[in-house]
This record gives sequence, C-alpha cells and structure tokens, in this order.
Amino acid sequence: MIAFDTVTKTYDGNKAIAGVSFEIQKGEMAFLTGPSGSGKTTLLRLVYREEVADQGRIVVAGWDLNKLDSTSIPFLRRNVGVVFQDFKLLPDRTVRDNVELTLRIQGIADDEARERVTSTLRLVGLRHKTDAYPPHLSGGEQQRVVIARAIIGNPAVLLADEPTGNLDPDTAKGIMDVFRTVHSRGGTILIATHDPNLYEHSGCRIFRLQEGKLLA
Ligand SMILES: Nc1ncnc2c1ncn2[C@@H]1O[C@H](COP(=O)(O)OP(=O)(O)OP(=O)(O)O)[C@@H](O)[C@H]1O
Ligand SMILES: [Mg+2]
Repeated sequence: MIAFDTVTKTYDGNKAIAGVSFEIQKGEMAFLTGPSGSGKTTLLRLVYREEVADQGRIVVAGWDLNKLDSTSIPFLRRNVGVVFQDFKLLPDRTVRDNVELTLRIQGIADDEARERVTSTLRLVGLRHKTDAYPPHLSGGEQQRVVIARAIIGNPAVLLADEPTGNLDPDTAKGIMDVFRTVHSRGGTILIATHDPNLYEHSGCRIFRLQEGKLLA
C-alpha cells in the first residue's frame, strides 16, 4: 500500500531522508520512530506528496508519485487521511462541520454525510460534542476531531504524526484504541511517534530512522 524504493530527500544539501526503502502492506499498522530531526515528518510528507523526493520511487495506494502530475494530487489525497499537528480545525465551525468537510469535498449527499459524521464521532467518543466549537474542546478532544476528519472518508492509508504528543496517558490510550479499531476494519496505518508506550507490545512493525536512514 506504501512502498519506498531508495528514496532520498535533501534540504539545503542535507539529506533528511537518505536511501530509504520499505513496504507497508494493505491492512498493516506500523510505527515510525527515531530521534528528533531523524526524518519522520519528512517521510510522512513524502507519502502525502506534500514533499517530492529527489531520488527513488514512492508508490502509495497504486499511485506512482514520480509520475503524478499536480492535477492528480487531490485524487491521491482522497486516499490518504492525515493526522498532522499543523492541520488545524476551523475554530468558527462546529465539530460536525469540521468532520463533514471531507465528505463535502467528495460530493457525498447530505443524508449519508450526516449519518457518517454521527457514527464517526461515536467511534472517537465525541458524539456528545457534535455541536461544540473546537476552541471549547480539550487538547485530546480536538485531536480526536482531527482523527475523525481523517478517517471519515475511509482513506486507503492513514498517516499520523505524533498523534498523542502533549496528551496524558489515558487520553493517548483512547486515541490508540481508535487507531486499533480503524486497523481492525482493514485500515492501513503509519504512525510516527517518539513514545515507546504506543508501539511496545503492539505486535506491529517498527521502522526506526536515524539521520534519515532506516535502521535494520
Ligand atoms: N522544510 C524544510 N526545510 C529545511 N530543512 C528541513 C525542512 N523540513 C525538515 N528539515 C530538516 O530535515 C531533517 C528531518 O526533519 P523532520 O522534521 O523530518 O524530523 P522528525 O524526525 O520529524 O523530528 P521531530 O521528532 O522533532 O518531529 C531535520 O534536520 C530538519 O531540520
Ligand atoms: Mg516530526
């Protein structure tokens, strides 16, 4: 579902990603870890085509990103849900509206959209906050809205960058439970994190980056 073949990404002469190769199968949940600056966010941004590789080949959900022209990027992104810290919620729109946006972009009819928002908010445990505004939610609640927005379109691939950063252990556990549910329904998930508690005993594969290289 995600395949990197000797991928390199350079910023100002420095390799943020250096000759990285790996494959994540359809329906697999995997973790990406490594010290600050090791390239985790850069790798996820390459999958989402937010960044373009200098060398190597990347295939995501059947799309060869080297051959993707700019008009096809929105179609790729319909297949990729992202939980990134800089993908903020709209503060002046309700939780429902924020989550529904993904479906609006896909042109899904009102009735179906309403039902899917309700069931997705139930899944992340926020059904009771449907009509609230993001600034009135706690950090963990906002993060769960971001996750709801990312998964509502049933993306083939779900990417998360430090999804539990700055959250207390109980809230972090609740968020991991949501990812496990998505995974049990067949979702392919790649989660970048510093937090060993998330991946230890998870039974998932762990990719470790160091200075842009994947350790064995
Ligand atoms: N837009 C950019 N311009 C220049 N350099 C960048 C850019 N983005 C990342 N880098 C550099 O690439 C390297 C990898 O950064 P990246 O953000 O991928 O690390 P990370 O593993 O996500 O770190 P953290 O754990 O702190 O989030 C760093 O040396 C960083 O300074
Ligand atoms: Mg990062």
